[in-house]
Amino acid sequence: MSDEKRHGSGSVQPGDTSKRVGAEVVRERGGDPEEIREKLIDAIGAEFTTYYYYTNLRCFLAGEEDLKEITEDARLEDRAHFELVMPRVFELGGQLPNDIRDFADRASCPDAYLPDDPTPTNILETLLEAERCAIRTWAEVCDMTRDCDPRTYDMAQRIYNEEVDHEAWFIELLSRERDGEANPAGHFVRGEPGEAPYSTNNRMNDSA
Ligand SMILES: [Fe+2]
Ligand SMILES: [Fe+2]
Repeated sequence: MSDEKRHGSGSVQPGDTSKRVGAEVVRERGGDPEEIREKLIDAIGAEFTTYYYYTNLRCFLAGEEDLKEITEDARLEDRAHFELVMPRVFELGGQLPNDIRDFADRASCPDAYLPDDPTPTNILETLLEAERCAIRTWAEVCDMTRDCDPRTYDMAQRIYNEEVDHEAWFIELLSRERDGEANPAGHFVRGEPGEAPYSTNNRMNDSA
């Protein structure tokens, strides 16, 4: 009976736990699960390090409550991006680097160091360029997965949406702070800090 169901079997033998259909179907559609997985590790390395660096950048926006609040949203959403994609690395047969130094070194974006002169303008310029790197990264992941890996593509396009938000926020803030110009993002505050409306992972507990 089961022989008549064409999805009842495929390239992975029944009971074989050394392979995943969820990865093999990517390959069968022309994708390279190993290449995608390594790219994802680089990309979430950048999300994780950015989460760390934004902590410092936010703290040095001392006394600028509006700037701190937006930076906090972007910071927490980068952590959400790490959390969203991390399980996909394992699903595609990979794992996180054992040494966090290796993880940080392979991050796909530059370190968002606190500027030597940590004025609000200089910090906002650092934040803006970090967001732009993230947009380029996730657009590339979208390109790699659009036709072969709907699960990774869905994650990447959700993150991409929020990175484009983040760029718009920092363009608005930098334009006012540095140039005295209105350059609206058309956005209002997230409902909760770091709400991550597109990318939030399953909220199994308050920390995720
Ligand atoms: Fe991010
Ligand atoms: Fe971001």
